[in-house]
Amino acid sequence: MTDWQHGFYKHDPQTRRRLITSGLGLPTSVTTQLAAGSSSLGNELIENYLTDYRLPEGVALGLVVNDHSYVVPMVVEEPSVIAAACNGAQRVARSGGFHAPKQHRELVGQVVLTDVVAPEKVKKQLLAQRTHLLAVANAAHPSMQRRGGGAKHLTVRIPGNFVSLDLGIDVCQAMGANSVNTMVEAVARELTAQGYHVLTAILSNFATQSLQAVTCDVEFASLATQQMPGQAVAHRIAQLSALAQADPYRAATHNKGIMNGIDAVMVASGNDWRAIESGAHAYAARDGQYRGLSTWHVIGQHLHGELTVPLPVGVVGGSIGLNPLTKLNYQISRIKTAEELAAVTASIGLAQNLAALRALATTGIQAGHMKLQYRSLAVSVGATPAEVPLVVAQLAKKPHVDQEQARQVLKAIRKEQQ
Ligand code: MEV
Repeated sequence: MTDWQHGFYKHDPQTRRRLITSGLGLPTSVTTQLAAGSSSLGNELIENYLTDYRLPEGVALGLVVNDHSYVVPMVVEEPSVIAAACNGAQRVARSGGFHAPKQHRELVGQVVLTDVVAPEKVKKQLLAQRTHLLAVANAAHPSMQRRGGGAKHLTVRIPGNFVSLDLGIDVCQAMGANSVNTMVEAVARELTAQGYHVLTAILSNFATQSLQAVTCDVEFASLATQQMPGQAVAHRIAQLSALAQADPYRAATHNKGIMNGIDAVMVASGNDWRAIESGAHAYAARDGQYRGLSTWHVIGQHLHGELTVPLPVGVVGGSIGLNPLTKLNYQISRIKTAEELAAVTASIGLAQNLAALRALATTGIQAGHMKLQYRSLAVSVGATPAEVPLVVAQLAKKPHVDQEQARQVLKAIRKEQQ
Protein backbone atom coordinates (compact mmCIF):
# COMPACT_ATOMS: atom_id res chain seq x y z
CA MET A 1 0.00 0.00 0.00
CA THR A 2 1.29 3.45 -0.83
CA ASP A 3 1.23 6.29 1.70
CA TRP A 4 -2.12 7.83 0.74
CA GLN A 5 -3.84 4.46 1.23
CA HIS A 6 -2.88 4.11 4.90
CA GLY A 7 -5.83 4.86 7.19
CA PHE A 8 -7.94 5.72 4.12
CA TYR A 9 -11.10 4.58 5.92
CA LYS A 10 -10.52 7.07 8.75
CA HIS A 11 -10.90 10.12 6.49
CA ASP A 12 -14.13 11.86 5.62
CA PRO A 13 -15.42 11.18 2.07
CA GLN A 14 -14.22 14.52 0.67
CA THR A 15 -10.67 13.90 1.89
CA ARG A 16 -10.81 10.36 0.47
CA ARG A 17 -11.89 11.73 -2.90
CA ARG A 18 -8.98 14.20 -2.88
CA LEU A 19 -6.50 11.55 -1.73
CA ILE A 20 -7.49 9.04 -4.40
CA THR A 21 -7.40 11.67 -7.13
CA SER A 22 -3.94 12.93 -6.25
CA GLY A 23 -2.65 9.47 -5.20
CA LEU A 24 -3.51 7.98 -8.59
CA GLY A 25 -2.46 11.10 -10.51
CA LEU A 26 -5.96 11.68 -11.89
CA PRO A 27 -7.24 15.10 -13.05
CA THR A 28 -8.79 17.20 -10.27
CA SER A 29 -12.13 17.01 -12.11
CA VAL A 30 -12.36 13.44 -10.79
CA THR A 31 -12.79 14.77 -7.23
CA THR A 32 -15.61 17.02 -8.41
CA GLN A 33 -17.26 14.21 -10.36
CA LEU A 34 -17.11 11.80 -7.42
CA ALA A 35 -18.47 14.47 -5.06
CA ALA A 36 -21.35 15.29 -7.40
CA GLY A 37 -22.69 11.74 -7.16
CA SER A 38 -22.16 11.29 -3.43
CA SER A 39 -24.69 10.98 -0.61
CA SER A 40 -24.46 10.98 3.17
CA LEU A 41 -26.25 7.59 3.30
CA GLY A 42 -23.55 5.91 1.20
CA ASN A 43 -20.91 6.89 3.72
CA GLU A 44 -23.04 5.38 6.50
CA LEU A 45 -23.42 2.11 4.64
CA ILE A 46 -19.94 1.13 3.47
CA GLU A 47 -16.26 1.56 4.21
CA ASN A 48 -13.90 3.69 2.10
CA TYR A 49 -16.97 5.36 0.56
CA LEU A 50 -16.33 7.68 -2.40
CA THR A 51 -19.61 8.15 -4.25
CA ASP A 52 -22.85 6.48 -5.28
CA TYR A 53 -22.56 4.29 -8.36
CA ARG A 54 -25.85 4.67 -10.18
CA LEU A 55 -27.71 2.02 -12.15
CA PRO A 56 -30.84 2.45 -14.25
CA GLU A 57 -34.18 1.63 -12.66
CA GLY A 58 -37.31 0.74 -14.62
CA VAL A 59 -40.50 -1.23 -14.08
CA ALA A 60 -41.88 -4.51 -15.36
CA LEU A 61 -45.51 -4.05 -16.35
CA GLY A 62 -48.28 -6.55 -16.87
CA LEU A 63 -47.14 -9.14 -14.35
CA VAL A 64 -50.10 -11.06 -12.91
CA VAL A 65 -49.43 -13.24 -9.87
CA ASN A 66 -52.22 -15.03 -8.01
CA ASP A 67 -54.79 -12.88 -9.89
CA HIS A 68 -53.13 -9.66 -8.76
CA SER A 69 -51.51 -7.27 -11.23
CA TYR A 70 -48.10 -5.87 -10.23
CA VAL A 71 -45.85 -3.02 -11.32
CA VAL A 72 -42.38 -4.26 -10.40
CA PRO A 73 -39.36 -1.97 -9.99
CA MET A 74 -36.17 -3.48 -11.40
CA VAL A 75 -32.62 -2.13 -11.25
CA VAL A 76 -30.31 -3.43 -13.96
CA GLU A 77 -27.84 -2.20 -16.57
CA GLU A 78 -28.43 -4.85 -19.26
CA PRO A 79 -30.65 -3.30 -21.97
CA SER A 80 -32.85 -6.33 -22.72
CA VAL A 81 -33.74 -7.44 -19.19
CA ILE A 82 -36.80 -5.32 -18.41
CA ALA A 83 -38.04 -5.64 -21.99
CA ALA A 84 -37.85 -9.43 -21.66
CA ALA A 85 -39.55 -9.44 -18.24
CA CYS A 86 -42.48 -7.44 -19.66
CA ASN A 87 -42.63 -9.63 -22.74
CA GLY A 88 -42.77 -12.86 -20.72
CA ALA A 89 -45.12 -11.43 -18.10
CA GLN A 90 -47.62 -10.20 -20.67
CA ARG A 91 -47.66 -13.51 -22.56
CA VAL A 92 -48.40 -15.36 -19.31
CA ALA A 93 -50.99 -12.77 -18.20
CA ARG A 94 -53.00 -13.53 -21.36
CA SER A 95 -53.24 -17.13 -20.15
CA GLY A 96 -54.26 -16.38 -16.56
CA GLY A 97 -50.98 -15.26 -14.99
CA PHE A 98 -48.60 -16.93 -12.56
CA HIS A 99 -49.59 -19.07 -9.61
CA ALA A 100 -47.29 -18.95 -6.60
CA PRO A 101 -48.26 -20.71 -3.36
CA LYS A 102 -47.55 -18.89 -0.11
CA GLN A 103 -43.95 -19.41 0.86
CA HIS A 104 -42.98 -21.21 4.03
CA ARG A 105 -39.99 -19.25 5.27
CA GLU A 106 -37.19 -20.14 7.60
CA LEU A 107 -33.51 -19.28 7.39
CA VAL A 108 -30.86 -21.88 8.12
CA GLY A 109 -28.11 -21.11 10.63
CA GLN A 110 -25.22 -23.54 11.00
CA VAL A 111 -23.06 -24.35 14.01
CA VAL A 112 -20.29 -26.63 12.74
CA LEU A 113 -18.29 -28.87 15.05
CA THR A 114 -14.83 -30.15 14.21
CA ASP A 115 -12.43 -32.74 15.70
CA VAL A 116 -15.41 -35.00 16.30
CA VAL A 117 -14.35 -38.52 17.27
CA ALA A 118 -17.76 -40.20 17.12
CA PRO A 119 -20.05 -38.11 14.89
CA GLU A 120 -23.15 -40.32 15.22
CA LYS A 121 -22.87 -40.22 19.01
CA VAL A 122 -22.46 -36.42 18.98
CA LYS A 123 -25.46 -36.14 16.67
CA LYS A 124 -27.57 -38.04 19.23
CA GLN A 125 -26.26 -35.86 22.07
CA LEU A 126 -27.14 -32.67 20.19
CA LEU A 127 -30.60 -33.88 19.25
CA ALA A 128 -31.22 -34.86 22.86
CA GLN A 129 -30.77 -31.26 23.96
CA ARG A 130 -32.86 -29.78 21.12
CA THR A 131 -35.22 -27.85 23.43
CA HIS A 132 -32.35 -26.38 25.43
CA LEU A 133 -30.36 -25.29 22.35
CA LEU A 134 -33.41 -23.71 20.73
CA ALA A 135 -33.99 -21.80 23.98
CA VAL A 136 -30.35 -20.61 23.96
CA ALA A 137 -30.78 -19.36 20.38
CA ASN A 138 -34.04 -17.58 21.19
CA ALA A 139 -32.66 -16.00 24.38
CA ALA A 140 -30.03 -14.31 22.18
CA HIS A 141 -32.74 -12.53 20.19
CA PRO A 142 -35.87 -12.27 22.36
CA SER A 143 -37.58 -9.64 20.20
CA MET A 144 -37.76 -12.10 17.29
CA GLN A 145 -39.71 -14.56 19.44
CA ARG A 146 -42.02 -11.79 20.68
CA ARG A 147 -42.90 -11.13 17.02
CA GLY A 148 -43.85 -14.79 16.56
CA GLY A 149 -40.54 -15.82 15.00
CA GLY A 150 -37.34 -17.28 16.38
CA ALA A 151 -35.50 -20.60 16.24
CA LYS A 152 -38.10 -23.29 15.52
CA HIS A 153 -36.26 -26.37 14.32
CA LEU A 154 -33.00 -28.12 15.01
CA THR A 155 -31.50 -30.84 12.84
CA VAL A 156 -28.04 -32.37 12.69
CA ARG A 157 -26.09 -33.45 9.59
CA ILE A 158 -22.67 -35.06 9.22
CA PRO A 159 -20.92 -33.53 6.16
CA GLY A 160 -17.50 -35.20 5.80
CA ASN A 161 -15.65 -35.16 9.11
CA PHE A 162 -17.81 -32.37 10.51
CA VAL A 163 -21.04 -32.25 12.44
CA SER A 164 -23.39 -29.44 11.44
CA LEU A 165 -26.14 -28.40 13.78
CA ASP A 166 -28.68 -26.57 11.62
CA LEU A 167 -31.19 -24.22 13.17
CA GLY A 168 -34.37 -23.37 11.27
CA ILE A 169 -35.08 -19.75 12.19
CA ASP A 170 -38.20 -17.75 11.39
CA VAL A 171 -37.03 -14.16 10.91
CA CYS A 172 -40.58 -12.82 10.26
CA GLN A 173 -40.51 -10.14 7.56
CA ALA A 174 -36.80 -9.34 7.78
CA MET A 175 -33.83 -10.38 5.67
CA GLY A 176 -32.55 -11.62 8.99
CA ALA A 177 -28.90 -12.53 8.34
CA ASN A 178 -27.65 -10.60 11.38
CA SER A 179 -30.32 -12.06 13.65
CA VAL A 180 -29.46 -15.59 12.56
CA ASN A 181 -25.76 -14.98 13.10
CA THR A 182 -26.42 -13.61 16.58
CA MET A 183 -28.45 -16.71 17.45
CA VAL A 184 -26.03 -19.31 16.08
CA GLU A 185 -23.10 -17.59 17.76
CA ALA A 186 -24.95 -17.90 21.10
CA VAL A 187 -25.43 -21.63 20.46
CA ALA A 188 -21.75 -21.89 19.49
CA ARG A 189 -20.75 -20.38 22.85
CA GLU A 190 -23.00 -22.81 24.66
CA LEU A 191 -21.56 -25.83 22.80
CA THR A 192 -18.01 -24.59 23.39
CA ALA A 193 -18.82 -24.35 27.10
CA GLN A 194 -20.03 -27.97 26.92
CA GLY A 195 -16.61 -28.99 25.54
CA TYR A 196 -17.36 -29.31 21.81
CA HIS A 197 -14.95 -27.81 19.27
CA VAL A 198 -16.88 -25.27 17.23
CA LEU A 199 -15.34 -24.43 13.86
CA THR A 200 -17.84 -21.83 12.74
CA ALA A 201 -21.33 -20.47 13.34
CA ILE A 202 -22.99 -18.65 10.46
CA LEU A 203 -26.09 -18.30 8.31
CA SER A 204 -26.24 -20.70 5.36
CA ASN A 205 -27.21 -19.15 2.04
CA PHE A 206 -28.41 -22.54 0.82
CA ALA A 207 -31.89 -21.46 1.85
CA THR A 208 -33.73 -24.74 1.36
CA GLN A 209 -36.29 -23.73 3.98
CA SER A 210 -37.37 -20.63 2.02
CA LEU A 211 -38.26 -22.16 -1.32
CA GLN A 212 -40.64 -20.29 -3.56
CA ALA A 213 -42.46 -22.19 -6.29
CA VAL A 214 -44.27 -20.62 -9.24
CA THR A 215 -46.11 -22.14 -12.19
CA CYS A 216 -47.83 -20.91 -15.32
CA ASP A 217 -49.71 -22.40 -18.28
CA VAL A 218 -49.27 -20.50 -21.51
CA GLU A 219 -51.64 -20.96 -24.42
CA PHE A 220 -49.91 -21.82 -27.69
CA ALA A 221 -51.41 -18.76 -29.38
CA SER A 222 -49.46 -16.50 -27.00
CA LEU A 223 -46.18 -18.03 -28.15
CA ALA A 224 -46.54 -17.83 -31.92
CA THR A 225 -44.30 -15.70 -34.11
CA GLN A 226 -44.99 -14.67 -37.70
CA GLN A 227 -42.79 -17.51 -38.87
CA MET A 228 -43.62 -20.24 -36.34
CA PRO A 229 -46.93 -21.50 -34.92
CA GLY A 230 -47.29 -21.39 -31.14
CA GLN A 231 -47.37 -25.17 -30.77
CA ALA A 232 -44.00 -25.52 -32.52
CA VAL A 233 -42.56 -22.75 -30.33
CA ALA A 234 -43.86 -24.54 -27.22
CA HIS A 235 -42.21 -27.82 -28.27
CA ARG A 236 -38.89 -26.10 -28.91
CA ILE A 237 -39.07 -24.35 -25.51
CA ALA A 238 -39.73 -27.75 -23.89
CA GLN A 239 -36.63 -29.10 -25.67
CA LEU A 240 -34.54 -26.16 -24.46
CA SER A 241 -35.79 -26.92 -20.95
CA ALA A 242 -34.74 -30.58 -21.32
CA LEU A 243 -31.34 -29.42 -22.54
CA ALA A 244 -30.89 -27.26 -19.43
CA GLN A 245 -31.61 -30.34 -17.28
CA ALA A 246 -29.03 -32.43 -19.13
CA ASP A 247 -26.21 -29.98 -19.89
CA PRO A 248 -24.59 -27.77 -17.22
CA TYR A 249 -23.14 -25.51 -19.93
CA ARG A 250 -26.61 -24.62 -21.10
CA ALA A 251 -28.05 -24.73 -17.55
CA ALA A 252 -25.73 -21.95 -16.39
CA THR A 253 -26.98 -19.65 -19.17
CA HIS A 254 -30.60 -20.73 -18.69
CA ASN A 255 -30.31 -19.82 -15.00
CA LYS A 256 -28.47 -16.59 -15.78
CA GLY A 257 -31.58 -15.56 -17.71
CA ILE A 258 -33.78 -16.34 -14.69
CA MET A 259 -31.42 -14.46 -12.36
CA ASN A 260 -31.41 -11.45 -14.73
CA GLY A 261 -34.93 -10.80 -13.51
CA ILE A 262 -34.59 -12.00 -9.93
CA ASP A 263 -31.44 -9.95 -9.24
CA ALA A 264 -32.97 -6.80 -10.70
CA VAL A 265 -35.97 -7.11 -8.37
CA MET A 266 -33.69 -7.91 -5.45
CA VAL A 267 -31.59 -4.77 -6.00
CA ALA A 268 -34.68 -2.56 -6.37
CA SER A 269 -36.22 -4.03 -3.20
CA GLY A 270 -33.04 -3.57 -1.15
CA ASN A 271 -32.38 -7.28 -0.74
CA ASP A 272 -28.99 -8.99 -0.66
CA TRP A 273 -28.88 -10.26 -4.23
CA ARG A 274 -25.54 -12.05 -3.70
CA ALA A 275 -27.22 -14.23 -1.07
CA ILE A 276 -30.07 -14.99 -3.47
CA GLU A 277 -27.60 -15.77 -6.30
CA SER A 278 -25.53 -18.18 -4.21
CA GLY A 279 -28.63 -19.94 -2.87
CA ALA A 280 -30.13 -20.28 -6.35
CA HIS A 281 -27.01 -21.84 -7.85
CA ALA A 282 -26.50 -24.17 -4.87
CA TYR A 283 -30.12 -25.28 -5.29
CA ALA A 284 -29.57 -25.80 -9.03
CA ALA A 285 -26.84 -28.31 -8.13
CA ARG A 286 -28.67 -29.97 -5.23
CA ASP A 287 -28.64 -33.48 -6.72
CA GLY A 288 -24.96 -33.32 -7.64
CA GLN A 289 -25.44 -32.02 -11.19
CA TYR A 290 -26.00 -28.36 -12.00
CA ARG A 291 -29.39 -28.07 -13.78
CA GLY A 292 -31.84 -25.46 -15.01
CA LEU A 293 -33.93 -24.08 -12.15
CA SER A 294 -37.07 -24.01 -14.27
CA THR A 295 -38.72 -26.65 -16.43
CA TRP A 296 -41.15 -26.30 -19.35
CA HIS A 297 -43.41 -29.09 -20.67
CA VAL A 298 -46.13 -29.25 -23.27
CA ILE A 299 -49.30 -30.39 -21.52
CA GLY A 300 -52.41 -30.59 -23.70
CA GLN A 301 -52.81 -27.25 -25.44
CA HIS A 302 -50.51 -25.40 -23.05
CA LEU A 303 -46.87 -24.86 -22.30
CA HIS A 304 -46.53 -25.51 -18.58
CA GLY A 305 -43.70 -23.74 -16.76
CA GLU A 306 -42.40 -24.36 -13.24
CA LEU A 307 -39.71 -22.69 -11.22
CA THR A 308 -38.62 -23.37 -7.67
CA VAL A 309 -35.92 -21.21 -6.18
CA PRO A 310 -34.77 -20.35 -2.66
CA LEU A 311 -35.89 -16.78 -1.95
CA PRO A 312 -35.09 -15.81 1.65
CA VAL A 313 -36.16 -12.22 0.98
CA GLY A 314 -37.17 -9.52 3.41
CA VAL A 315 -39.21 -6.33 3.33
CA VAL A 316 -37.50 -4.86 6.40
CA GLY A 317 -33.93 -4.78 7.67
CA GLY A 318 -30.59 -4.18 5.98
CA SER A 319 -30.61 -1.01 3.91
CA ILE A 320 -34.33 -1.33 3.07
CA GLY A 321 -35.51 1.28 5.56
CA LEU A 322 -32.57 3.59 4.95
CA ASN A 323 -32.59 4.08 1.22
CA PRO A 324 -35.42 6.45 0.17
CA LEU A 325 -35.51 4.95 -3.33
CA THR A 326 -36.00 1.46 -1.94
CA LYS A 327 -38.90 2.71 0.18
CA LEU A 328 -40.38 4.34 -2.91
CA ASN A 329 -40.12 1.05 -4.78
CA TYR A 330 -42.36 -0.62 -2.21
CA GLN A 331 -44.91 2.13 -2.82
CA ILE A 332 -44.73 1.43 -6.56
CA SER A 333 -45.02 -2.35 -6.27
CA ARG A 334 -47.46 -2.18 -3.33
CA ILE A 335 -45.72 -5.28 -1.97
CA LYS A 336 -46.28 -5.49 1.78
CA THR A 337 -44.90 -8.83 2.90
CA ALA A 338 -41.83 -10.97 2.37
CA GLU A 339 -44.08 -13.80 1.11
CA GLU A 340 -45.58 -11.51 -1.53
CA LEU A 341 -42.13 -10.28 -2.58
CA ALA A 342 -40.93 -13.89 -2.94
CA ALA A 343 -43.96 -14.80 -5.10
CA VAL A 344 -43.50 -11.76 -7.35
CA THR A 345 -39.74 -12.24 -7.64
CA ALA A 346 -40.03 -15.90 -8.65
CA SER A 347 -42.70 -14.94 -11.20
CA ILE A 348 -40.40 -12.33 -12.73
CA GLY A 349 -37.70 -15.00 -12.93
CA LEU A 350 -40.02 -17.37 -14.82
CA ALA A 351 -41.30 -14.55 -17.07
CA GLN A 352 -37.72 -13.61 -17.89
CA ASN A 353 -36.89 -17.23 -18.67
CA LEU A 354 -39.93 -17.64 -20.92
CA ALA A 355 -39.02 -14.57 -22.96
CA ALA A 356 -35.42 -15.75 -23.36
CA LEU A 357 -36.39 -19.30 -24.34
CA ARG A 358 -39.04 -18.09 -26.80
CA ALA A 359 -36.45 -15.89 -28.47
CA LEU A 360 -33.93 -18.74 -28.56
CA ALA A 361 -36.59 -21.10 -29.93
CA THR A 362 -37.53 -18.73 -32.75
CA THR A 363 -35.47 -15.82 -34.06
CA GLY A 364 -32.43 -16.29 -31.80
CA ILE A 365 -31.43 -13.89 -29.08
CA GLN A 366 -29.56 -11.33 -31.13
CA ALA A 367 -32.51 -9.97 -33.08
CA GLY A 368 -34.19 -8.53 -29.98
CA HIS A 369 -31.00 -7.90 -28.05
CA MET A 370 -29.31 -5.91 -30.76
CA LYS A 371 -32.19 -3.46 -31.17
CA LEU A 372 -31.70 -2.57 -27.52
CA GLN A 373 -27.92 -2.71 -27.71
CA TYR A 374 -27.95 -0.17 -30.56
CA ARG A 375 -29.14 2.47 -28.12
CA SER A 376 -26.28 1.76 -25.72
CA LEU A 377 -23.88 1.75 -28.66
CA ALA A 378 -25.20 5.12 -29.87
CA VAL A 379 -24.78 6.61 -26.40
CA SER A 380 -21.30 5.10 -26.05
CA VAL A 381 -20.08 6.94 -29.16
CA GLY A 382 -21.44 10.25 -27.85
CA ALA A 383 -24.87 10.55 -29.52
CA THR A 384 -27.11 13.13 -27.85
CA PRO A 385 -30.66 12.07 -26.82
CA ALA A 386 -31.95 13.63 -30.05
CA GLU A 387 -29.38 11.75 -32.15
CA VAL A 388 -29.88 8.33 -30.51
CA PRO A 389 -33.02 7.32 -32.51
CA LEU A 390 -31.35 8.45 -35.75
CA VAL A 391 -28.24 6.35 -35.05
CA VAL A 392 -30.37 3.36 -33.97
CA ALA A 393 -32.43 3.53 -37.18
CA GLN A 394 -29.26 3.50 -39.31
CA LEU A 395 -27.59 0.70 -37.31
CA ALA A 396 -30.71 -1.48 -37.62
CA LYS A 397 -30.19 -1.55 -41.40
CA LYS A 398 -26.63 -2.86 -41.14
CA PRO A 399 -25.76 -6.57 -41.20
CA HIS A 400 -22.87 -6.18 -38.71
CA VAL A 401 -22.76 -3.52 -36.05
CA ASP A 402 -19.92 -2.48 -33.78
CA GLN A 403 -18.70 0.66 -32.08
CA GLU A 404 -16.74 1.80 -35.13
CA GLN A 405 -19.86 1.48 -37.30
CA ALA A 406 -21.83 3.49 -34.73
CA ARG A 407 -19.14 6.17 -34.72
CA GLN A 408 -19.24 6.42 -38.49
CA VAL A 409 -23.04 6.53 -38.58
CA LEU A 410 -23.07 9.36 -36.02
CA LYS A 411 -20.43 11.25 -37.99
CA ALA A 412 -22.49 10.91 -41.18
CA ILE A 413 -25.68 12.05 -39.42
CA ARG A 414 -23.92 15.13 -38.03
CA LYS A 415 -22.44 15.95 -41.42
CA GLU A 416 -25.88 15.69 -43.03
CA GLN A 417 -27.36 18.01 -40.42
CA GLN A 418 -24.74 20.74 -40.88
C1 MEV B 1 -28.82 -13.01 -21.43
O1 MEV B 1 -28.56 -12.05 -20.44
C2 MEV B 1 -29.65 -14.15 -20.89
C3 MEV B 1 -29.91 -15.28 -21.87
O2 MEV B 1 -28.68 -15.79 -22.38
C4 MEV B 1 -30.65 -16.37 -21.12
C5 MEV B 1 -30.79 -17.68 -21.89
O3 MEV B 1 -30.00 -17.96 -22.78
O4 MEV B 1 -31.72 -18.43 -21.51
C6 MEV B 1 -30.70 -14.81 -23.05
